[in-house]
Amino acid sequence: MSKPQPDPRAAAARLKRLSRLRPTLAIVLGSGFHHVLSELQTQAEVSYTRLPGFPPTGVTGHAGQLFIGHLGGTPVMVLSGRAHYYEGHPMTLVTFAVRALAAYGIRDLLLTNAAGGLNRSFRPGDFMALTDHINLMGVNPLRGAPVPGLPRFVDLTCAYDKGLCGLLQAAGRACGTKLRSGTYLAVSGPSYETPAEIRAFARLGADAVGMSTVPETIVARQCGLKVAAVSCITNLAAGRSRKPLSHAEVLETAERMKKLAAKMLKNFAQLYGQAQ
Ligand code: HPA
Repeated sequence: MSKPQPDPRAAAARLKRLSRLRPTLAIVLGSGFHHVLSELQTQAEVSYTRLPGFPPTGVTGHAGQLFIGHLGGTPVMVLSGRAHYYEGHPMTLVTFAVRALAAYGIRDLLLTNAAGGLNRSFRPGDFMALTDHINLMGVNPLRGAPVPGLPRFVDLTCAYDKGLCGLLQAAGRACGTKLRSGTYLAVSGPSYETPAEIRAFARLGADAVGMSTVPETIVARQCGLKVAAVSCITNLAAGRSRKPLSHAEVLETAERMKKLAAKMLKNFAQLYGQAQ
């Protein structure tokens, strides 16, 4: 017998008791995007350890903290820290927070991440709005028992919402940066890719490669949330530059771009609020 799965509705009920504010937008922070917390007017915050079913703090590499507050004047929920598949978590845990957000009443989800650039015109420090993805993680988060009331076979024709994508582009323009757009290819990691893999992925149509986001997008679409996602291109993908890849380079670029990333997210939240 498998263990009973935690109920996302229990986590959602806990979140509702945190604050009377009821944001419809949630933002998941990946590497390079945490600086936006300095722009957030926080009304309530809670550690993932106090949210039943959320990934345990510490393993994620980030604080594992959820915030409710205003960003650019708009009510938002911000998730700082996510569980990655490469940490060894099952996909149910990697995507649990998304199910809790849906049960809470979040309608729109902005996912952020760090990624390696394959597109030859991309440079470290660019931002890319995802227009589509390729799932090469070798797993699908919807595998397993069907979820009552939710579709079994989820349409991903429009995984990334055009309207939200337009808001991302506008948010970039408002801080003087032109966002790239393209296809994100997800691998399980945690090793980086080989140059041969990168050449193959480029032939498949990938513009950037990373180790997150896609499972969350798939589950969000099953739950009926609209999704937008943005990558900070922290490095050229393996074999695309003379240097070997390093996590240090990923962190350096993320650090260099953090102020712009924060401004862009704030602009996005503001524009989102105005569009409601
Ligand atoms: N590959 C996979 N994941 C990544 C990379 C990369 O080059 N950069 C940041 N995350």
